[in-house]
Amino acid sequence: MEVVRSLGKMKDISCRARAEGRQVGLVPTMGYLHEGHMSLVRASVSECGLTVVSIFVNPFQFGPNEDFEKYPRDIAGDTKLLEKEKVDVLFLPDAGEMYPDGYATYVDVKGSLTGRLCGVSRPGHFRGVATVVAKLFNIVRPHRSYFGEKDFQQALVVRRMSSDLDLGVEVRTLPIVREDDGLAMSSRNRYLSVEERIRARAVFEAVQRASETVLSGERNAENIRRAAEKVLLSKGGISIDYIEIVDASDLQPVREVKGRILVALAVFVGKTRLLDNAILNA
Ligand code: PAF
Repeated sequence: MEVVRSLGKMKDISCRARAEGRQVGLVPTMGYLHEGHMSLVRASVSECGLTVVSIFVNPFQFGPNEDFEKYPRDIAGDTKLLEKEKVDVLFLPDAGEMYPDGYATYVDVKGSLTGRLCGVSRPGHFRGVATVVAKLFNIVRPHRSYFGEKDFQQALVVRRMSSDLDLGVEVRTLPIVREDDGLAMSSRNRYLSVEERIRARAVFEAVQRASETVLSGERNAENIRRAAEKVLLSKGGISIDYIEIVDASDLQPVREVKGRILVALAVFVGKTRLLDNAILNA
């Protein structure tokens, strides 16, 4: 596996691969890799002739009181995991080269895709994500890029951006990977204390309760939302950021559940913000 830090070198490698007719796959990450990331990596390795995994903790997508400084980092551990999967390139762009002095250009996806759910509680977050992903797409020039469905809204935003800006990158999504007790894998899970980690099981239980409620025939979105809320409130020590039942294609809230819907929630367990969701076909 080649470790590349320079943007110019990354462009050259990708250009050469394209000229040789190889498909280029990109898995953008912020590192501290877990099985959720590795499922994306394996998909890219099996589908593409050149797989690039980027690790870059992007300052633009963190709010002023968020965890940019303490975001977990383990480049040595990540490198070992990626070597095992036969990744071709680990791309570690330098922050100064990504955002040099005078940097002034941002990508802002407007409308309901960013104006709802995490877009409300994390203002500016998706602008930071769209900006860095647009840059990574321009540098790596992938045919395909891989995103996890835990960050379902992020994947929709990136797909919209790729399509609106004619970047020509196919945005592929893969299902949430969970711990044995159901907790969605996330680099932020490591912030949880032992006691919080136990409490965090309720997050998936709430998603499951919402799914079961739909399966049992309930179609009223508010009743489904309340069923999930009840699970979270019954555990104590969990504060709810949002629980929403929305259309899975445009994230518009629904009153009556029909077609493909998303049950999405964000909660705080202690100071740690956790996301989970389920896509349901009613
Ligand atoms: O999901 C993430 O890890 C990040 O938001 C991403 C897509 C790598 C952009 O920084």
